[in-house]
Amino acid sequence: MPSDDLVVLRDVRKVYRMGDVEVQALHVRELTIRRGEFVAVLGPSGSGKTTLLNLVGGIDAPTSGQILFDGEDISGFSDRQLTLFRRENVGFVFQFFNLIPTLTAEENVRFAVDLASRDGVPPDRDPKALLAKVGLADRVSHFPKQLSGGEQQRVAVARALAKNPKLILGDEPTGNLDFRTGKLVLSALRDVNRDEGAAVVLVTHNMPLAAIADRVLHIRDGEIASVEINERPVAPEDVTW
Ligand SMILES: Nc1ncnc2c1ncn2[C@@H]1O[C@H](COP(=O)(O)OP(=O)(O)OP(=O)(O)O)[C@@H](O)[C@H]1O
Ligand SMILES: [Mg+2]
Repeated sequence: MPSDDLVVLRDVRKVYRMGDVEVQALHVRELTIRRGEFVAVLGPSGSGKTTLLNLVGGIDAPTSGQILFDGEDISGFSDRQLTLFRRENVGFVFQFFNLIPTLTAEENVRFAVDLASRDGVPPDRDPKALLAKVGLADRVSHFPKQLSGGEQQRVAVARALAKNPKLILGDEPTGNLDFRTGKLVLSALRDVNRDEGAAVVLVTHNMPLAAIADRVLHIRDGEIASVEINERPVAPEDVTW
């Protein structure tokens, strides 16, 4: 039986070297992200949030320590191994939506589905159905410039789902959106998290939005300073300032 633990970090450090100067960007003694869990990450600028996401999602390798993903030790992976690992397992939603401007919403998602199937994920994902899941059934033929910011970001969520990922990472996916629009995007993320069982790790500067998570990690100076458990996560629609 697969364990409940999706990602386990043990004594993980990330040190950046700039000439003679070393910056310890992150030190995580112990962190477990469970399957299907929704985790928010809060902390000041420069505290190590993106560094944490990059390690958890295999964008970057740790300087030392152990990272287990689905029981497999990815901490010693080469760049090439990490690329393959990411393609199969991790969906990303960034601050800037990064859709392909010359493709419609449906084609943007289809492109991701095709890429995923090339990497061995069964191509059982229908782009239209994925767009319907994020509330965009009536926008499939729109090009990115014909969509609002929030709609573009929901296309990005549908695109992240193309490979049926075990984990979705969001680095400030609502950073460029107004509060109400941001809530729609988070609503879509929460829905896919609940319906598809993909774990979500969401970096946000927006304190009230963290109330939608199962767990909130507070990062300070490269360390997890505290962890809050939300017994009753708030529905994104109900979050207020
Ligand atoms: N490639 C790099 N080379 C050197 N130092 C880096 C690099 N990336 C990040 N850092 C440093 O590591 C620390 C953590 O950076 P990180 O990007 O994780 O912060 P963050 O919490 O995501 O901040 P923000 O909220 O501004 O995005 C910072 O002090 C940053 O200057
Ligand atoms: Mg960052």
